[in-house]
Amino acid sequence: MSIFQKGEILAIGCDHGGYELKQKIMEHLKEKEIEVKDFGTYSSASVDYPDIALKVSKSVVSGEAKLGILICGTGIGMSLAANKVHGIRAAACSETFSAKYTRLHNDANILCLGGRVVGDGVAMEIVDLFVDTPFEGGRHQRRVDAVMDIEKL
Ligand code: RB5
Repeated sequence: MSIFQKGEILAIGCDHGGYELKQKIMEHLKEKEIEVKDFGTYSSASVDYPDIALKVSKSVVSGEAKLGILICGTGIGMSLAANKVHGIRAAACSETFSAKYTRLHNDANILCLGGRVVGDGVAMEIVDLFVDTPFEGGRHQRRVDAVMDIEKL
């Protein structure tokens, strides 16, 4: 059961290194009845990941999307770029434990995946945990607030 309410959307984007996995994740999210806005790329032709990271990040910080998913070859370039946008907490995950706890403890709002790192099965389990797990709040809210305060320095 996902944390998405009716009318809420998820923003997704990838570069050429994540294109095939993005298509599979979009299919998976459709089966979970989560509405997705696709910011590209739309083929396996080479593109620059920061351009896509910025589009998905803007969608999340504007409130258009509740959460985002970004996929490149490693997930790292996308996370570096997305975390430059104020309001973004992007987490690159390649196993399920981190995917669960980055929602519970960090209130991560963008999941980054490596299309050349994770297999399809693990990727779908990571996606499920990311979209199904609520933020725990409590003492973690104070820590997340402290992280976001760093943007004001
Ligand atoms: C593109 O070849 C690759 O560098 C990119 O997908 C990503 O892995 C960057 O972090």
